Amino acid sequence: MASATGIKVAIIGAGTMGHALALVFALGGHEVRLTDSSMATLDKAGGLMETALETLVVAGEAPREADADWLHHAVTRLPVLAEALEDADLVLEAIIEQPDAKRALFEEVDRLAPAQAIIASNTSYLDPFPLIPARRQGRALIMHWYTPPYLVDLVDIVGGPECDPAVVSFAVDLCRAMGKRPVVMRKFVPGYIANRVQSAIALEVQKLLDEGVATASEIDTAIIEGISLRLPILGVLAKADFTGLAFTQTSLANRMYAPPPVRGQCDAVDALVAEGRTGVMAGAGFYDWPGATADVLEDRDRRLLALKRALRQIGTLAGEGRDQ
Ligand SMILES: NC(=O)c1ccc[n+]([C@@H]2O[C@H](COP(=O)([O-])OP(=O)(O)OC[C@H]3O[C@@H](n4cnc5c(N)ncnc54)[C@H](O)[C@@H]3O)[C@@H](O)[C@H]2O)c1
Repeated sequence: MASATGIKVAIIGAGTMGHALALVFALGGHEVRLTDSSMATLDKAGGLMETALETLVVAGEAPREADADWLHHAVTRLPVLAEALEDADLVLEAIIEQPDAKRALFEEVDRLAPAQAIIASNTSYLDPFPLIPARRQGRALIMHWYTPPYLVDLVDIVGGPECDPAVVSFAVDLCRAMGKRPVVMRKFVPGYIANRVQSAIALEVQKLLDEGVATASEIDTAIIEGISLRLPILGVLAKADFTGLAFTQTSLANRMYAPPPVRGQCDAVDALVAEGRTGVMAGAGFYDWPGATADVLEDRDRRLLALKRALRQIGTLAGEGRDQ
């Protein structure tokens, strides 16, 4: 097994996640090759990484020497998959969330990547293991990150059914060495922990939106003002301790409302997508995001960094060291 420092990482898919993951691994001291089937996306990734890096350097979260020149050497952008995979110790798949596309890609990776390469998927909801060729199963796992991964430290690690436990340990060490917080899950469940909880919130929000209970910005205000302040320091279960578990018990018994069913679509989302308002990358979604994508991301990153610093300073009340 390679050591968890200075490895060769091939990142496939340079979109929302891929470009940011390349930056994470480069800052972690690894040799990164980034590829994408779209040349335009691969081109754009360069500027997005540079802007994100600059934000991190200004905030003191990345060393001063990490300038555009350094980035250019640390992350090689290659349009040809075979070149990106050459000598790779770790292959991190971050392409579109479509099983057929991922299956076809894993077949190519199987053909081209070194036999010893670890194959990791960043999928959010798909079970990737049936899509990965049999002879790669012993070194196949999920490494699932959150956007932007250079600021959000959680990484979900799930070994495939036949994955060598040493590969899981290696992935954990690799993440820790980069200052990340890996959580190992004993089995694959779509959405892991954080995304499942986020999806439950999203389902409720989408229902409220489609029922016309409040506007998008009123709903976001309720969430930011009502939930967000406590969540970062308490999580959900420590918050229940502060609320009082007897109250939790009564609330459960009262069954105030049923959780929303998974409808498989949301009218408000469908309408926006039909208009081409697909989110920040398109310049508009629920909200307008005018200007360059890099500037919008930079603004988000600066605010997240300030919050992260504050949380570091005050500490959390839940989590490590406080288990029963
Ligand atoms: N967006 C998020 O917040 C987020 C968070 C965690 C995990 N993920 C997961 O990461 C993966 C990528 O998501 P994203 O949001 O970055 O998607 P994205 O659409 O922004 O980027 C995907 C990229 O993959 C490229 N691509 C498609 N097929 C390819 C192929 N065969 N070879 C090389 N490149 C190919 C596309 O050109 C595109 O640039 C998905 O599995 C998603 O579930 C996304």
